[in-house]
Amino acid sequence: MNGRIQDRILGVFSRRELLGAASTTACIFAFGAMAGASGGPAPLTLPPLPYAPNALEPVISANTISFHYGKHHKAYIDNLNKLIEGTDLAGMPLEKIIAATAGKSDKVAIFNNAAQAWNHAFYWQSLKPNGGGEPPAALKQKIDSSFGSVDACKKELAAAATTQFGSGWAWLVLDGGKLKVVKTSNADNPMTQGMKPLLTIDVWEHAYYLDYQNRRADYVGAVLEKLINWQFAADNLGGK
Ligand code: FE2
Repeated sequence: MNGRIQDRILGVFSRRELLGAASTTACIFAFGAMAGASGGPAPLTLPPLPYAPNALEPVISANTISFHYGKHHKAYIDNLNKLIEGTDLAGMPLEKIIAATAGKSDKVAIFNNAAQAWNHAFYWQSLKPNGGGEPPAALKQKIDSSFGSVDACKKELAAAATTQFGSGWAWLVLDGGKLKVVKTSNADNPMTQGMKPLLTIDVWEHAYYLDYQNRRADYVGAVLEKLINWQFAADNLGGK
């Protein structure tokens, strides 16, 4: 590979963000760079959930959170730690592990677990209790100029989330100065295409099946109306 993919991923983050100094987003992802007790790099740790496990009810139950965060997200971190232990990737921030493994056929398992660890931490931040409503003014202006209206943006997000075939993610991204909605399969992340994620909706079945069974559209609609964290997207957009 594929220095181009690596450059694209690292290019969407400033140096300060990668060092964990610039935003909440970066702070929760910039783990793993400290020395461990044995003197080697410390393993990656599951970042704390930014709210109580029942705080997203009734849209997402505490039962779903207990499996989704406590089992699935944790497993991605645990698997990744096993896969990178003793390698050059140990101790790197997640973004750098993703950048170093994206597009490499012999690093698929590491990429998948690293990207899923990143995507889930980003997803938890993309939701909040009593979310939805109107985006902050600067983000709303950007949404209006890119989509025509907030409702049109939400419709595109809902369409991407409901039409993603199989497991994956719907994203609001910054791409070349404009906002766009994209969808990715499995663990893929728009950073590998040089886009900056602003928020995401997880549409793997484990995100909604306990609460909604096969009704993915109901889950997506409820998330967009009641949980989506526009402030998080605005923070990620920054001054751009
Ligand atoms: Fe998930």
